[in-house]
Amino acid sequence: MISRLYSASVTGIKGYEVQVEVDARPVDDVGRMTIVGLPDAAVRESIQRVTAALSNSNFFQPGQLLVTVNLAPADVRKQGPGFDLPIALGLEMVIQQNCDNMPELFRRRVPAGLDDWCILGELALDGKVRGIRGVLPLAVAARNAGRRYLMVSQENATEASVVDGLQVYAVETLRDAWDVLLERERFSPVPAHSGEFRSIGEKDFDEVKGQPYARRAMEIAAAGGHNLLMCGSPGSGKSMLAARLPTILPPLTHDEALEASAIHSVCGLLPREGGLLRCRPFRAPHHTISDVGLMGGGSTITPGEISLAHHGVLFLDELPEFNRRTLETLRQPLESGVITISRASGTMDFPCSFMLVAAMNPCPCGYLGDPRHSCRCRPAEVVRYRQKISGPLLDRFDILIEVPPVNPASLLSKPDGESSAAILKRVLVARERQKLRYAGTGITCNARLSSKLVRTFCPLTGSQQNMLLAAVSQLGLSARAFDRILRVARTVADLAGHEQLADSDLYDAIQFRQFEQQLHS
Ligand SMILES: Nc1ncnc2c1ncn2[C@@H]1O[C@H](COP(=O)(O)OP(=O)(O)OP(=O)(O)O)[C@@H](O)[C@H]1O
Ligand SMILES: [Mg+2]
Ligand SMILES: [Zn+2]
Repeated sequence: MISRLYSASVTGIKGYEVQVEVDARPVDDVGRMTIVGLPDAAVRESIQRVTAALSNSNFFQPGQLLVTVNLAPADVRKQGPGFDLPIALGLEMVIQQNCDNMPELFRRRVPAGLDDWCILGELALDGKVRGIRGVLPLAVAARNAGRRYLMVSQENATEASVVDGLQVYAVETLRDAWDVLLERERFSPVPAHSGEFRSIGEKDFDEVKGQPYARRAMEIAAAGGHNLLMCGSPGSGKSMLAARLPTILPPLTHDEALEASAIHSVCGLLPREGGLLRCRPFRAPHHTISDVGLMGGGSTITPGEISLAHHGVLFLDELPEFNRRTLETLRQPLESGVITISRASGTMDFPCSFMLVAAMNPCPCGYLGDPRHSCRCRPAEVVRYRQKISGPLLDRFDILIEVPPVNPASLLSKPDGESSAAILKRVLVARERQKLRYAGTGITCNARLSSKLVRTFCPLTGSQQNMLLAAVSQLGLSARAFDRILRVARTVADLAGHEQLADSDLYDAIQFRQFEQQLHS
């Protein structure tokens, strides 16, 4: 007699259902337990955890057994320690039903009719149930496969309870798990989590004094989803401005929150107190990050920083310090919003649609052009420093600005800057205009307009065409920069409430590219 329970596993960021079948029969010689169905190392080690957890939980261990665990479907790789709990429960069910010489003391009623359950959890040697990674996509997979009840550790309960259509039962130990399966009615499920969003609160644009030009650039970037590069001397507030960008971005929609949270879930990065990600992710990897850390990969393929920034902001501080080759690999995913990772273990697509925000100093010492410090760099050093950022990468930024040093007097002065809430209001109005305009095209913001759609949605008058052509030839801009100016102009117009691009909208957008020429020279 065998037992059959449902569990789930994840590849990349997608969950799928797995059937856990356990067969156990007594043997005369040495007992053995084998797991088949493409288990990874963590799944194979399940054997030791399951046996220890069962005996430490006072479940009966009959002498020598030949145990076979089959994880179906057999052709997909199974990852992680999450099968411990269903394997242990399944094994005990078989033992209870097949063992003739079991002392009365150990006899238990065996739960039945478990087809509605999906069971997930790692076991500690003492029988405690531990949390696992990726519970959110696993719970979604269980729900989509038609399961009604989900069993997870206490640690994973809030994360799982966001998924509607599933009743989540949190268990602390293997024995609890047995009791819950036996008499579900006696226990109450975890209250459904609304997955509500809360503002991040601590950081606010009102702390940023002065810097009207940089603040405006931030607002435009947020309103149209544009990539932004800031250049300025140390202490001018670049990192400070970037960190406040998420506070003026529109809240995540439910679908966006689910998608972004699934990525954080498989990386074990969802906040424990629960629910979905509440505000747009802001990822600021250090410039020493490896390619795998940034792009994703590894022996079991996991998402990198660019995917963790999905639907949010990727901030590359000290941009020229990043490995040049690493920066170049960013170009393709920046354009497509998807990264494809190929390894011996398979090929996987991860979403990575993010706003790129970067900061840099004007030169290696940082003070070139600063009226209050003199720059110690030789011209050749400045050129080498700037050349670390290739033309094609610069081309990916819609808005390039210089952030001047702050005047110390303005740091003490009142009033404070405008608050994030006030800026967000204008951003939301501009986003609403974009949503209406692009309804049915699958595009959500100006930054995502294709070259063709730019022509459709940003028509220019004759004199505007001349103005743009003059700017492009004077600044030596590429065809890609041409489209970028139009997209930014569209956002400036949306913020100003202009249905048609005004000359001033186009003019502002051109200003945001002026600086590119300086960086190249
Ligand atoms: N406009 C500003 N208003 C208020 N405080 C500011 C402003 N600019 C800078 N500061 C203060 O200076 C500190 C340093 O700013 P920040 O780290 O953002 O500079 P940075 O431009 O990123 O410098 P670096 O090039 O060295 O990275 C901030 O933490 C903040 O306290
Ligand atoms: Mg900084
Ligand atoms: Zn310098």
